[in-house]
Amino acid sequence: MITSLSDKVVLNNGIEMPGFGLGVYKVDEGDTVIRAVRTAVEVGYRSIDTASFYNNERGVGQGVRESGIPREEIFITSKVWNDEQGYESTLRAFEQSIEKLGLDYLDLYLVHWPVSGKYIETYLALEKLYKEGRVRAIGVSNFHVHHLESLLKDCSVKPVINQVEYHPHLTQKELKNYCERENIQLESWSPLKRGKLLTEPTLIEVGQKYGKSPAQVILRWNIQHNVITIPKSTSAERIKENATIFDFVLSDEDMKKIDSLNINDRSGSNPDDF
Ligand SMILES: NC(=O)c1ccc[n+]([C@@H]2O[C@H](COP(=O)([O-])OP(=O)(O)OC[C@H]3O[C@@H](n4cnc5c(N)ncnc54)[C@H](OP(=O)(O)O)[C@@H]3O)[C@@H](O)[C@H]2O)c1
Repeated sequence: MITSLSDKVVLNNGIEMPGFGLGVYKVDEGDTVIRAVRTAVEVGYRSIDTASFYNNERGVGQGVRESGIPREEIFITSKVWNDEQGYESTLRAFEQSIEKLGLDYLDLYLVHWPVSGKYIETYLALEKLYKEGRVRAIGVSNFHVHHLESLLKDCSVKPVINQVEYHPHLTQKELKNYCERENIQLESWSPLKRGKLLTEPTLIEVGQKYGKSPAQVILRWNIQHNVITIPKSTSAERIKENATIFDFVLSDEDMKKIDSLNINDRSGSNPDDF
């Protein structure tokens, strides 16, 4: 389990990735995303999660450069979008992402969704980029167990990460166990269920016990489950709040209480019918 904001998890290819980061989905390109990235880095975040689909890769790159922290100390993830999938088109999409970010390598490149009939060849393009040293690690997002099983039959480089929707209303136990067995790190998107979990009475009650907000309780619960988490915020106050989770420990009883909130409810699409 990570013990600080900059603490890292060792991925299955030996690369280290911060266990906590900033997500920037729905953060406007330009000043807004530049400011969010700079604020996060000032607070101590060392990982930023973007995607070509978010249309803010230029600002993410700009924010990282303006932060004054050396590039190699910041872990940058991007993803190949659904309409870019296929072998050659993925290679082209990667060049566009890297050009927009203004980087010469990515730390992590993910297949954003398992597009039927395309995700294997898309992943094979990621393997080429990995073998050429253009990316330090490759992985997937929104993969169910059956997608991973079919990918593992055909790939030569195991994905390091599966980034999926994961929060107290969607604990994905079977998928989590499978990823643990296969040494594929689980990463949580929409950890706060896009804000919808913040009025959940149990989370408020648990938070009061520790003097923490529901958001902090959820993010701490992620960390204690060894799940990498990337909450999104554009507010400096909430960027700080979300990261202030390394000064308390949820008891086993409270962890179980939060686990029991699961109702298998998604805020986004099910990867089988998106
Ligand atoms: N791979 C995928 O398919 C996929 C899909 C979705 C998301 N993601 C990634 O995961 C990241 C996080 O997910 P998300 O952006 O969907 O949702 P989220 O992080 O669960 O929630 C973000 C929402 O919560 C608010 N918020 C953040 N911190 C708060 C706090 N402490 N108190 C109250 N409200 C707070 C934010 O508003 P303010 O900005 O106003 O604070 C925003 O409206 C994304 O940004 C993206 O990088 C990946």
